[in-house]
Amino acid sequence: MCGIIGYTGHSAAAPILLDGLRRLEYRGYDSAGLALVGAGTLTEIKEVGKVARLEEACAGFPELENDVCCGIAHTRWATHGVPSAVNAHPHCDEKYEFAIVHNGIVENHHELRAHLEKKGYHFRSSTDSEVIVHLIAEAYEGDLLSATAAAVRQLSGTYGIAVVSSRHPGLIVAARKGSPLVIGLGEGENLIASDISALLPRTRKVIYLNDGDIAAIRPDGIDLRDVSNVPVEREVAKIDWDAAAAEKGNFPHFMLKEIFEQPETVENAIRGRLNLEMGNAVLNGLELSPRDLAQISRIVIAGCGSSMHAGMVGEYYFEDIAGISTSVEQAAEFRYRNPIIEPNTLVIPISQSGETADTIAAVREAVGKGALVTALCNVVGSTIAREAGRGVYLHAGPEISVASTKAFSSQVAVLLLMALLLGRNRRLSRSEGSELAREIEQAPELIRQVLAQAETIRAIAKRYAAFDDFFYIGRGCLYPTALEGALKLKEISYVHAEGYHAAELKHGPIALLDERHPVLALANDIPGREKILGNIQECRARRAPVVAVATVGDREVEQLTDDVIFVPACSRFIAPLPTAVALQLFAYFIAVERGCEIDQPRNLAKSVTVE
Ligand code: G6P
Repeated sequence: MCGIIGYTGHSAAAPILLDGLRRLEYRGYDSAGLALVGAGTLTEIKEVGKVARLEEACAGFPELENDVCCGIAHTRWATHGVPSAVNAHPHCDEKYEFAIVHNGIVENHHELRAHLEKKGYHFRSSTDSEVIVHLIAEAYEGDLLSATAAAVRQLSGTYGIAVVSSRHPGLIVAARKGSPLVIGLGEGENLIASDISALLPRTRKVIYLNDGDIAAIRPDGIDLRDVSNVPVEREVAKIDWDAAAAEKGNFPHFMLKEIFEQPETVENAIRGRLNLEMGNAVLNGLELSPRDLAQISRIVIAGCGSSMHAGMVGEYYFEDIAGISTSVEQAAEFRYRNPIIEPNTLVIPISQSGETADTIAAVREAVGKGALVTALCNVVGSTIAREAGRGVYLHAGPEISVASTKAFSSQVAVLLLMALLLGRNRRLSRSEGSELAREIEQAPELIRQVLAQAETIRAIAKRYAAFDDFFYIGRGCLYPTALEGALKLKEISYVHAEGYHAAELKHGPIALLDERHPVLALANDIPGREKILGNIQECRARRAPVVAVATVGDREVEQLTDDVIFVPACSRFIAPLPTAVALQLFAYFIAVERGCEIDQPRNLAKSVTVE
């Protein structure tokens, strides 16, 4: 979704802003722009398309090279108004004295626009955002912070904004409600961004803004006010990701790099969190005593996209390992349908970014209803991590590819640790716990073994790259894994792919099967395999090509199917991990074969920060 970067310091701002925008590209966008302020000047440059086009356009302004050291920039993902240079941010007032960039949605923009137009303000764009700059111009009486505060008081909806003015070179004002903003603290320079990955090359010291916060950012300091305009100090957080972690290295795409990182990222998710001897997990961030744990009578998991699929795997874990009744909710459903939260319900919001609007709303609903809330997030200090109050971090490092891979496997690994902890707290014996702990410890190695077969998977994917419809089927924990596999293929290759419970195939989808509809059957050697073999026969009887994922050495599956991706033997609890990795590679190689733009698929955003 839209990205914001702002810089004020003593270096030329344009190259820093362009570099920041490049680091935000992964969020998905359709146009980009920047505004630079020097002494009494404001230059606005906007382009449709990629940041590279904006960079070319900036080359036409050589005067920006040296002495313009303050500016704001934006990548826009269209919501109100088509992708165009006029609708791209920044938006300026009529006299080009103020410029703003905005993430979020101004819900009352129609009324505000009508009110401003009546007063003679002219609008250039059809965006909801442009009202903000005119409101600032209207409220301005010499103090940019106060004018911005007066403007945002009139907005309903969500915003993360950054504002500059030719009357205040060196100053950026930022304000947040419902759309993330983080200040980067440098040496003699400061930055503002919607996402820490844009800050990493210049600093790892950051301050997360809270909803209602407004900040005046200058090269030598920050003036921060809370929602009641009271000066506040906020904690300075240190980011342990480095800039290299957010770069592609030798990989052609972030997605492939992140797929290959999984042995380490799953290792990071479990490191220090397993007690093999006691057969238990140690999750300090949960902040729940054994007594609190014993009182949990129900678990509700909320998330979107891949995070929801990970939650669905978790549902099997909590019920099977810990014997706790669990349900998974699409986060938007959770927020709107008045969920039943009892005193001992544990709500687990899952979000890689920690900024997904629907999942944030689900957290607020759960907290407001008095649930125990424990978040699973990857981004440290993100809104969900902070508002949930307690949780378990994934430690997967920055995930840049829009299609989630390593965050999914880390979420699954952490859910398994949580299930082990809750299981040991109730019905699991020490030896059963130790056995599971040892299996979890093996997961990174099993993933490594799947990655070692990347070339074989590539060859299989090539044979299927021309098909336009796929079915993915699985049972047990491999049912949500099938959903996730199908999602990967849709996201990056634009191929129609549907995940189904294998038993559901006969209840409709089988009507579609013929030689043009390949079926990916998850036939690992875990309980349910025999039934999947039956489903494979049904597919073949309709002449559908079948690719199976099967356990190494399974000749029966090999003979039954057209192609097999072999994964190492493991229990049903671990199976989603190597299997998901195999499906990620399959989807990736199909997308490569079809020439798709893998890291920034059309229409998708990494983090969906609006409803
Ligand atoms: C978007 C992304 C998905 C992601 C989902 C949830 O749709 O494209 O990859 O799974 O949001 O994101 P979250 O950050 O909450 O896990």
